[in-house]
Amino acid sequence: MKKEFLDLGKQPLGNKFLSEEQFDTEFFYNLKVVFDEDTKLVSLKEFVRPEQIFDAEYPYWTSKSVPMIEHFKNTAVMLQDEFEIDKVLEIGSNDGTFIKNFRREDSVCVEPCGNFAEYTNKELKYKTYSEYWTTELSEEIKSSYGKFDLIYSANCISHINDLEDTFQAAANLLTGRGVFVFEDPSCLSVLKRNSYDQIYDEHPHLFSVTSLDNLLNNHGLELCRVDNLEVHGGSNRIFARLISDNPPEDSVIDNLKREEEFGLNDFETYVEFGKRVEKSKEDLLDILHKAKSDGKRVMTIGATCKSSIVFNYCGIDNNLIDYITDTTPTKINKMSPGKHIPIYDYNYFCENHPDYTYLLAWNHKNEIVKKESGKYKGRWITHTPKVRIHDTF
Ligand code: TMP
Repeated sequence: MKKEFLDLGKQPLGNKFLSEEQFDTEFFYNLKVVFDEDTKLVSLKEFVRPEQIFDAEYPYWTSKSVPMIEHFKNTAVMLQDEFEIDKVLEIGSNDGTFIKNFRREDSVCVEPCGNFAEYTNKELKYKTYSEYWTTELSEEIKSSYGKFDLIYSANCISHINDLEDTFQAAANLLTGRGVFVFEDPSCLSVLKRNSYDQIYDEHPHLFSVTSLDNLLNNHGLELCRVDNLEVHGGSNRIFARLISDNPPEDSVIDNLKREEEFGLNDFETYVEFGKRVEKSKEDLLDILHKAKSDGKRVMTIGATCKSSIVFNYCGIDNNLIDYITDTTPTKINKMSPGKHIPIYDYNYFCENHPDYTYLLAWNHKNEIVKKESGKYKGRWITHTPKVRIHDTF
């Protein structure tokens, strides 16, 4: 049975940065979050159709982030060292940042966003199916390429509405010694850090290791290892294999235990999280209203999906935030979804330093703080794990 514990209100698509002509046709949905008592999975109550999100204008280019290039390189090297991999399949290959670390002739990609599929097919010359991941597609790939020793996916599996079909499709393509490795934000990290802004249209599910343990088993798969990562504000790298007689690594048992101790199996834990989210909204609005009444200028670094969720949930618009700055060319000179706060490029920030900078690309804090060190003299605002003003980091 699914029980609701959080209502983040009417929300636009978090990544649809738009121009003024598009305001009238902007799409909104109700962002409510439920906990499934049977599987322990956290999901959105109402899913958005993938065609509305993952289209040929999807703006997130992984290769624009130096730490993410490093992350995927290190991950690829680790997988090559630790597993015997003849053939690799990547689900949700984006701009090829991960797959580039493997030989073209051993690799197949699946990427529904047309802009990336065209790029990896034509520019990088990696075979890319420009389609959504389904059992039907897995059959087509199997008939052309056979099975794979590694199926890898980062920040994609939790983006897929139909998990039953997703896991079935993965099991369908794994060799006997094969491993299905996927990374997604961790439910435990979100609850511990009060990072409710990780929950939005593109993330219809928020995975705990416990929920995956329950779900994978229904499709002939089992957990064999879990790596806890810091990327994207706390993620888990899940390793699954076809059900076997081998015991899982200790990391699986440790993670399940830690989650149980934190209360991830209990609905009440999520209700408490919901209360902390409401408090976070009140505290943030207090700070922003005070700054406004003191005549201070506040801006935001990072036109992230996360910022869209926070602004729309808290009702924060251009009255409270002067502007957002972002380094991504496709976001610059557009408006933020729903609240329509202007997005300017980084130079504008350098020339117009505000009194307060709200760090909404908080998952890139180290990189940003290092860049601004000695230059930006104003104060910082953060909301995770608690709403706070910082004179310095
Ligand atoms: P992400 O949270 O989905 O990775 O998106 C981070 C966004 O923040 C992305 O649009 C780029 C932007 N950004 C900046 O504007 N300045 C920076 O220094 C960094 C690291 C990211």
